[in-house]
Amino acid sequence: MTENKKFYISTPLYYPSDKLHIGHAYCTVSSDAIARYKRHTGYDVYFLTGSDDHGQKIERMAKQKDLTPKQYVDNIVDTFKDLWKRLNISNDGFVRTSDDYHVAAVKKIFKKLYDQGDIYKASYQGHYCTPCESFWLERQLVNGCCPDCGRPVELVEEESYYLRLSKYAPQLIEHIRQHPEFIQPVSRANEMLNNFLLPGLEDLCVSRTSCKWGIPVDFDEKHTIYVWVDALSNYITKLGYTSDNTELFDKYWPADLHVVGKEIVRFHTIIWPIILLALGLPLPKQVFGHGWLVLDGGKMSKSKGNVVDPIKLIDRYGCDAIRYFLLRDVPFGTGADGVFSNEALITKINSDLANDLGNLLSRTVSMIEKYFSGIIPQNNTPEPEDDALIALAQELPAEVEEFMESYRMSEALQAIWKLIGACNKYIDVTAPWILAKSEASLPRLGTVLYNLAECLRIVGTLLQPFMPSTAPLIFEQLGIEECDLTNITKLGVFGKLPVGTPVKKGNALFPRIDVKKELEELEASVQTAPAAEEKPEKAEKAEKAAKPEKAEEPAVSLIEYDDFAKIDLRLAKVLACEEVPKSKKLLNFTLQVGEETRTVLSGIKEYYSPEEMIGKTVVLVANLKPRKMCGIESNGMILCASDEGDVHLSALTTMSDMASGLKVR
Ligand code: MSP
Repeated sequence: MTENKKFYISTPLYYPSDKLHIGHAYCTVSSDAIARYKRHTGYDVYFLTGSDDHGQKIERMAKQKDLTPKQYVDNIVDTFKDLWKRLNISNDGFVRTSDDYHVAAVKKIFKKLYDQGDIYKASYQGHYCTPCESFWLERQLVNGCCPDCGRPVELVEEESYYLRLSKYAPQLIEHIRQHPEFIQPVSRANEMLNNFLLPGLEDLCVSRTSCKWGIPVDFDEKHTIYVWVDALSNYITKLGYTSDNTELFDKYWPADLHVVGKEIVRFHTIIWPIILLALGLPLPKQVFGHGWLVLDGGKMSKSKGNVVDPIKLIDRYGCDAIRYFLLRDVPFGTGADGVFSNEALITKINSDLANDLGNLLSRTVSMIEKYFSGIIPQNNTPEPEDDALIALAQELPAEVEEFMESYRMSEALQAIWKLIGACNKYIDVTAPWILAKSEASLPRLGTVLYNLAECLRIVGTLLQPFMPSTAPLIFEQLGIEECDLTNITKLGVFGKLPVGTPVKKGNALFPRIDVKKELEELEASVQTAPAAEEKPEKAEKAEKAAKPEKAEEPAVSLIEYDDFAKIDLRLAKVLACEEVPKSKKLLNFTLQVGEETRTVLSGIKEYYSPEEMIGKTVVLVANLKPRKMCGIESNGMILCASDEGDVHLSALTTMSDMASGLKVR
């Protein structure tokens, strides 16, 4: 290992408020495969993951459960840690934003930025309606009262801290242009430049007085630090930045790779680099925005008849089957989404793992046992039909390396499966069972089986970063120990497997699954599983909704088509979304509608976090008269479906990816 071969990789910090689903495992499994590959190829790796403990959402959830926020997150973080263990995640560090060292460091970072003038305090004046928790401008008031509830308002002035994003924007734009590798895939870099940086950045409000579950600004304790400033700092606080021991920081910073989901690329490539520029620190070498694992037609949710609880899936199929599916079926390197369904998972396990890989190993080892008393035979009767297979096996390590340089795990696995497929075909073509029939062809049979075993050694070696529990099982059956023979950097020469090694038949790597029966069982388990946790207040509303006072549906009068045609419904893509700070309900959306970008407010803050809306395609009433709310002009309305009492609400979107601006009719 050489000094300069170090690699620092991180995943985003997970919100402990979210119920775990298989999509959550995706980012961490992908990062783990990269971290393991780097370790196997001689890098000194530091792999960090953790949990994002603070924020209003958590404060609220804890309250509903009668717990302190800390008690609430402690319980959930344990389930995260358990999941990472079951998935064989090899992280070196686990950071929690409620950890003391992190809290202390974030306070220092905030103070430093304040002292040097990059964070400043500014005040906002408005008429405040306490029951609605909303600020209004003078001209929005109706007879001097709140336009929403009609109650009297008070004139108040509220102060917040702001980070000077605007000051550092030119330097960041220059950095992005000079370092095309900084934001990957490249389409995301263009998105950041064109949608956010070039139109002009506004300074960012980086303190809250409404949320107590956060890190206090230590020189002004009624303010807590904005969760993203808090969370993003983890990448350096865990390494000891600002502490007495900066050994890890000195060694590993700047990070080589921040792996993040596509919806949070903006935070990692705009806010985070600007904080670092202001601190005078080097920027991470790369931020990689991966796609999502989605269910056919939408977000992960148990109600879709799919088991998405990763623990349940790991218990049923084993960790490596899940890892394989995630790494193979979501094309990480391109940043595109992948689709999850129970059926796709089981089909993949049967075809690629049970049939292609599992059968190849079991047939090869069984034949060596049967025809050569379990000893790897001599390989001294080569035939031209071996050449293509050997060439493929020899080229494979370099091919995998090339794919892994740009984190294309799916393609790397495809390449490995190409060799597995070629081996299975080689068995069909060489027909070992026929060779076994005559004494004279036994040497040839030995060569065929040697070649197969040697290919399996190469396959097992290359699979280590992706399927860390399966690779040792392959080695065990081939009778080899982890040593130079299983070293990725020492592959490339065919024929290193020692003749005379005793093989040992083991259990099937991946037992075949009866798809129909399994799907029925899975579906039954989803239907009997308790519904996703409901907030008590929601449950109460649901009860009310279930007992409507009047049984009849409200009368809806019929309209002419021309009336309907007056409504201009359009698809719109959410480019940015943030909370309207003074409002309990409103989110502020920046929407792309064809060529046009517009601001639309929507009262769905209770149902969606801004982060989960970014990147979504929504349906917009595009010709609604503009309306000002909380001092912001809203140009349209986002359509949502909801039940009585708004217990459940869902923003409408499309079944497949469609361009923004398209008409909905
Ligand atoms: N807490 C922030 C990150 C702060 S980093 C300083 C956050 N947390 S999250 O729990 O909402 O998401 C964590 C990661 O999981 C994100 O990268 C997100 O994209 C990823 N995923 C959540 N659901 C996912 C899928 N369905 N598919 C793939 N990744 C998914 O954002």
